[in-house]
Amino acid sequence: MRPFLFNSLLAFTCLMCMQCQTKYPMSSNTENPEYALVIHGGAGTILKENMTEDMEQRYHEALTRALSAGRQILEEGGMAIDAVEAAIVIMEDEPLFNAGKGAVLTYDGTTELDASIMTGHNLDAGAVGGVKTIKNPIKAAIGVMNSSPHVMLVGNGADQFAKELGLDIVDPDYFLTERRIQSLKRSKEKEANNEKQDAATRHGTVGAVALDKEGNIVAGTSTGGMTNKRYNRIGDAPIIGAATYADNNTCGISATGHGEYFIRLAVAHNIHAQMKYGGASLQEAAEDVILNQLEGLGGDGGIVGLDKNGRIVMVFNSEGMYRGFALPDEKKTFIFKDE
Ligand code: GLY
Repeated sequence: MRPFLFNSLLAFTCLMCMQCQTKYPMSSNTENPEYALVIHGGAGTILKENMTEDMEQRYHEALTRALSAGRQILEEGGMAIDAVEAAIVIMEDEPLFNAGKGAVLTYDGTTELDASIMTGHNLDAGAVGGVKTIKNPIKAAIGVMNSSPHVMLVGNGADQFAKELGLDIVDPDYFLTERRIQSLKRSKEKEANNEKQDAATRHGTVGAVALDKEGNIVAGTSTGGMTNKRYNRIGDAPIIGAATYADNNTCGISATGHGEYFIRLAVAHNIHAQMKYGGASLQEAAEDVILNQLEGLGGDGGIVGLDKNGRIVMVFNSEGMYRGFALPDEKKTFIFKDE
């Protein structure tokens, strides 16, 4: 009798835990929409009590602009890659997000930007890492995919490649913002005092995943990485399979969070693989990877993704994630966990 009672209690506890876990993942309810777009602007300790109404509005407005730009392309029958690029360019140009202008600063007070793209119909991919002068790194990632025989270019060579492609090149100072200068200062003070770094120092990243009317899925990710990073550290954002993955037969994923953990768990490919080889749904696979595997390893962050039927998921284990989705009849943006 005792073991039975113990097992029942255990089963009940597990069930309760699962119910708690499924509180923060979100998904859309529309089946087989003509097209779909989902974006994120970073995950982290995003609490309502720490946010002014004005800031909240600015984030919603910026996410809405990115969604509108991408959705217009999809609505008009355009390609998923163009929708992803348009949405990410808007977030790269918006200083609120840690990507492009407004990217976080390295130990040396500079910016080193990472980005990647993947197209699900042919598993083609492109990425740049540690670039310093490319106004929109997502465009350079697309350039690597479309105009080079390579998948990833890094450092000065990648900057040079983008210049030769005719992309917008800017002075490195273009990316600097007062907010990030202050964050670096705080991070260095904490480092000097052996204090724990704010979670915010390792958060940020923008991303988008689109399904177009032709059934093609594309995923892209762009970031400034971690505040106070050194030694040309590169995170998960330009790593295909870590932050970005797309396969028309399963799903498209873009991730945000503590990059080292996302690389170790091959988060984006891990979700795809659970669907492809294990028959999991996108929601099941994403919950397993983020809420079990990532959480279990001590990492934090989240993903946005969509499957081949246009079902959208946004799963994270942090306090919040800037995020939103657009479908033919619905457009929504969110910031906090319990929305
Ligand atoms: N997820 C962004 C980074 O860790 O660089």
